[in-house]
Amino acid sequence: MILTSIENRIQTISFNRPEKKNAITNQMYLDAVDALQAADANPEVRCVIFTGEGGNLTSGNDLVDFIQNPPQGDMPPVLAFLLAVARLKKPIVVAINGLAVGIGTTMLAHCDYIVAAEDSRFKLPFVDLGVCPEGGSSLLFPKLMGHAHAAELLMLADIFDVKKADKVGLINAVVPADDVRAHAQKIAAKFVQRAPAAVMRTKAMLKQDYLADLEKRMADEVYAFRDLLESPEAKEALTAFMEKRAPDFSRF
Ligand code: COA
Repeated sequence: MILTSIENRIQTISFNRPEKKNAITNQMYLDAVDALQAADANPEVRCVIFTGEGGNLTSGNDLVDFIQNPPQGDMPPVLAFLLAVARLKKPIVVAINGLAVGIGTTMLAHCDYIVAAEDSRFKLPFVDLGVCPEGGSSLLFPKLMGHAHAAELLMLADIFDVKKADKVGLINAVVPADDVRAHAQKIAAKFVQRAPAAVMRTKAMLKQDYLADLEKRMADEVYAFRDLLESPEAKEALTAFMEKRAPDFSRF
């Protein structure tokens, strides 16, 4: 369940599963990949906006999918999605209301302009789930924010607010919740007005130094993630989520 539309040369991709806080299923990743590839191929489109319906960006990967359809093979849907985001030639604006959990935070490091509501909340819950980071965050976060902040966010996994997100360089702008979409539209409209080949070449050059390393790291993270998902620690974490209780890692 994603919504896509093209208006004023802007392709909007919106996570639309409000009853699960926009938790992303394998099918949603695949639908988003199709939309992203279509956006890059369509000369009419000059900018992509990611957002979410119902007051949240996303609560991250669907945890029921982790149990029932865990990532398999060399190109599970989550990796296909992250690679499509990382490789998109056109600028990406993200409009965040409410929660940006897991991939909802890691994907930001691949995007070009992020606007968040004053009351947005971010969380990188990987260690709480007995797994490791994804989306190249183990490579990009230390580069972006330094080891101390990356270690705090990825190894302690506490929820954090826009003040912290701004301090560590994850977001560009903080606005009242009701203004997030309009602000994202305004920035996307500016990208649309700029010289398109120059914008795309500039984006490519900003990523030139690290894109190959990034793609390798994203694949390595998926292999590690898959292994860890089979571990007793992850099983305890996922069981705890289903039973609506806190996980107990004391016996490991
Ligand atoms: N996968 C599957 N279902 C999810 C989900 C996820 N990632 N996040 C939320 N949901 C579901 C909840 O199970 C609940 O379903 P129910 O109404 O059938 O019981 C519904 O969405 C609403 O979530 P709820 O937990 O009641 O909302 P909340 O505001 O109290 O808490 C979160 C929101 C995001 C903090 C909490 O749901 C959470 O921690 N989710 C898991 C986040 C996560 O670990 N994501 C994986 C990242 S890799």
